[in-house]
Amino acid sequence: MTTNSPLWYKDAIFYELHVRAFYDSNADGIGDLPGLTEKLDYLQTLGVNCLWLLPIYPSPRKDDGYDIADYYNIDPAYGTMQDFENFIHAAHQRGLRVIMDLVLNHTSDQHPWFQAARASKDSPYRDYYVWSDTDQKYADARIIFLDTEPSNWTWDEQAGQYYWHRFYASQPDLNYDNPAVRQEMLRVADFWLQKGIDGFRADAVPYLIEREGSNCENLPETHDYLKQLRAHIDEGYPGRILLCEANQSPQDVRPYFGEGDEFHMGFHFPLMPRIYMSLQKETIRDLQEILAQTPPIPENCQWCIFLRNHDELTLEMVTEEERQWMWQQYAPDPRMKLNLGIRRRLAPLLQNDRARLELANSLLLTLPGAPIIYYGDEIGMGDNLLLPDRDGVRTPMQWDSSPQAGFSTTTPATPLLTGDYAPERVNVQDQLQNPASLFHALRHMLQVRQQSPALGQGSLHWHNPGNPAIALYERRHLQERVLILHNLSGLAQVASLGGGFPAHVRNLLTDQTQPLPTEILLQPRQFLWLALED
Ligand code: BGC
Repeated sequence: MTTNSPLWYKDAIFYELHVRAFYDSNADGIGDLPGLTEKLDYLQTLGVNCLWLLPIYPSPRKDDGYDIADYYNIDPAYGTMQDFENFIHAAHQRGLRVIMDLVLNHTSDQHPWFQAARASKDSPYRDYYVWSDTDQKYADARIIFLDTEPSNWTWDEQAGQYYWHRFYASQPDLNYDNPAVRQEMLRVADFWLQKGIDGFRADAVPYLIEREGSNCENLPETHDYLKQLRAHIDEGYPGRILLCEANQSPQDVRPYFGEGDEFHMGFHFPLMPRIYMSLQKETIRDLQEILAQTPPIPENCQWCIFLRNHDELTLEMVTEEERQWMWQQYAPDPRMKLNLGIRRRLAPLLQNDRARLELANSLLLTLPGAPIIYYGDEIGMGDNLLLPDRDGVRTPMQWDSSPQAGFSTTTPATPLLTGDYAPERVNVQDQLQNPASLFHALRHMLQVRQQSPALGQGSLHWHNPGNPAIALYERRHLQERVLILHNLSGLAQVASLGGGFPAHVRNLLTDQTQPLPTEILLQPRQFLWLALED
């Protein structure tokens, strides 16, 4: 683990995983907590610091667990509470921290609160949700799951009213104008923090509050509640973190950091598609533009950056023209599109091309923000377009080349990948054994990054290499300076450095000292991490 510092998250490397898809210890075809616990050594070998677990609460799984039916338990498919406690203990023993999803905005329609709410207008739970006699209120709120939901309102026969939902109709929104709801969700946070977790990835936070005449996102009342949640956590559990999922422009995410009194971390959603734009256009422009538009954040805060996650590669934060371009470039098969995004994994997106995969990961590990690696991407797993919704990017982790991929001793509930990404072609065991594998390349990059506070939390300074195909920037922290070069192009390119740099540098990835000429020839998609030492 980086340190015991309360600011540990600022230079941590995160790893997002689905317990369901990681390792099945009891031969039922579904990954579970004892299975994950068995695989902690692997995660330690990879060299990450903090695990983010997708929801493991009891759920009818209409949204793969983001539809929670009970906030205070573990879905029996994933194990028992004791298994959970054992897992947290084992992770901490290895210096790995753990955060979990806190789904504030909505419950499952199977949650007893909603069942009671819909059954009677007099139930104290009625007001836990947002009801209306018409479906015309809050008309300025956009629909997020565009491919399936015609409206944010659904008529409930039993209740005799419409209820409000920003996601699937099976996920009714909680009513944050109700103090009982606000209090209840603080209790939920307490429950898991008392189990020893290190924080939460707070799901879908822009949508907590609705107001007529607004788009019902990022409202001041929503921030008020989130600040209350933060104060509550700071008071009872110092050192634990809140990571904000707000798929918004950098300007609109900025308030979620408050004055360092709201979220510790926030995903940088708009940066992600621009990494793909830059890789494909082979120019730095889109990346530079979005980072220029990114406001500074308080000293005790950090961005979280990522290449892929469990959702579709979202294109909500690009223009309509850019979205069409991204779909054209990265989603040539209509089945690859979902809502306003692309439901593919990193390796297939980058044509399973090793140089592109390393280049993308190098950007991830050297741009400002704490990186998140999505499980399976470290070995270049693919996706399955035949599976519905986002399931195709959540297939079982491929541990070896055996028929069940070492994931289970029985047929996995979610099918394994086939073809170019089948377990016999892509699996952990082979890559662990092969020092030239993607896994080892990435592991090495993680090790180097862990040793460099500048890469972890340094400031960013662009230089002009006189060539738009080259990303040339410096990360600085205290006395440490690291110069980063990326050739985004598939052709060799020259970077002009000009003056102001030392004559010799240490190449962090090879650990060699080398002269630094004023012009550097970079091979196709080559990248360099150079320590500038006097
Ligand atoms: C999660 C999704 C989920 C949605 C509703 C999100 O943004 O990442 O997977 O479907 O919230 O909970």
